[in-house]
Amino acid sequence: MQTFEIQGNNNISRLLVGEKLTNLETYLPESRTVIITDTVVKRLYGDLFPQRADVITIGCGEKIKTLDTVRRIYEQLIALDMDRTGFIVGIGGGIVCDITGFAASTYMRGVRFGFVASTLLAQTDASVGGKNGVNFGGYKNMAGVFSQPDFVICDMTLLSSLAKRELLCGFAEIIKHALIADVDMFRYLKENYSQALALNPQVIEKLVADSIKIKAAVVSRDELEQGERRKLNFGHTIGHALEQTGRMPHGEAVSIGMAAATAFSAAKGFISSQDVIRIIDLITRYHLPVRSDISPEQLLAAMRKDKKRTGAKIHFVFLKRLGEALVEAITFDELKELASCKIWQK
Ligand SMILES: NC(=O)c1ccc[n+]([C@@H]2O[C@H](COP(=O)([O-])OP(=O)(O)OC[C@H]3O[C@@H](n4cnc5c(N)ncnc54)[C@H](O)[C@@H]3O)[C@@H](O)[C@H]2O)c1
Ligand SMILES: [Zn+2]
Repeated sequence: MQTFEIQGNNNISRLLVGEKLTNLETYLPESRTVIITDTVVKRLYGDLFPQRADVITIGCGEKIKTLDTVRRIYEQLIALDMDRTGFIVGIGGGIVCDITGFAASTYMRGVRFGFVASTLLAQTDASVGGKNGVNFGGYKNMAGVFSQPDFVICDMTLLSSLAKRELLCGFAEIIKHALIADVDMFRYLKENYSQALALNPQVIEKLVADSIKIKAAVVSRDELEQGERRKLNFGHTIGHALEQTGRMPHGEAVSIGMAAATAFSAAKGFISSQDVIRIIDLITRYHLPVRSDISPEQLLAAMRKDKKRTGAKIHFVFLKRLGEALVEAITFDELKELASCKIWQK
């Protein structure tokens, strides 16, 4: 097992890579514990949950990441007589983690919480870093808080039941971390792609640990995303816009977003066309898409709704070189020009 830490504003968050769901009890305080999970995870792993905990089950899918689901969680917490001395654990993918973190941080002005991340995307990204929130009014993650979980357990054995498409979405975030911060990890991903896809225990644990190490380091330096943390949004400006169209899951949208941002980086003269080919090749090895049939106009319209824009400009993440990102505030006109480069269009 490898352990990493994030120094948050109010607490230290411990990230436990290779720990098991069956050991969850050892991380819990003696006080009352409530588990929040979704129907699929409960069906698959509910028998392994600590017996003494009460369980609140929510539905599945991005459509339930709403204030209404949070309201129903508050109602059940009240019905269970939960108070601020209790502890809440989210066991599930990114949706369970985002909702649990938000509900726990706001219920009675904040109850301590932790996660058992059960998807590759949640282990490498969603559960790490303390961003919690729900969608609102057609905008993704519009209402939320920065609040670090006390711990995150990343149990690799849970990944074997994941649908292939869900697994691949996690690899998109792993590739992102390599591209923005670690050229050795890029090489490792390329050389070991078949073992990674087959969930070879050593390979997958190393990739999750390397990913978390990168994200934890960035978040510790800039928890509230005023500077460096923006680099983690590589591929996400376009990715979120594609995701909004409702046609594909987060990881696939981010893959296309990364391919586009890579092409834009070359168009800006930052990276070579050789590197563009290497990156597209890596994304493709992981069976992830690099092109979309959405028009640049549709995409720009969606990007204008991005909450990360500041006035007429948007913080766009480029690759300065393989393993190093660079954030520039660019105008929508410049974005439009970049979006006309055809590489990412079907
Ligand atoms: N807070 C952040 O920093 C952050 C970062 C990245 C993504 N996110 C959010 O994460 C969400 C996506 O997360 P996700 O891809 O994990 O989605 P998800 O939580 O919907 O999980 C995907 C599906 O897999 C099922 N599942 C979960 N664990 C399983 C397992 N072990 N075996 C079989 N099935 C399992 C779930 O029930 C669900 O149907 C998005 O809402 C995204 O915005 C948040
Ligand atoms: Zn992401």
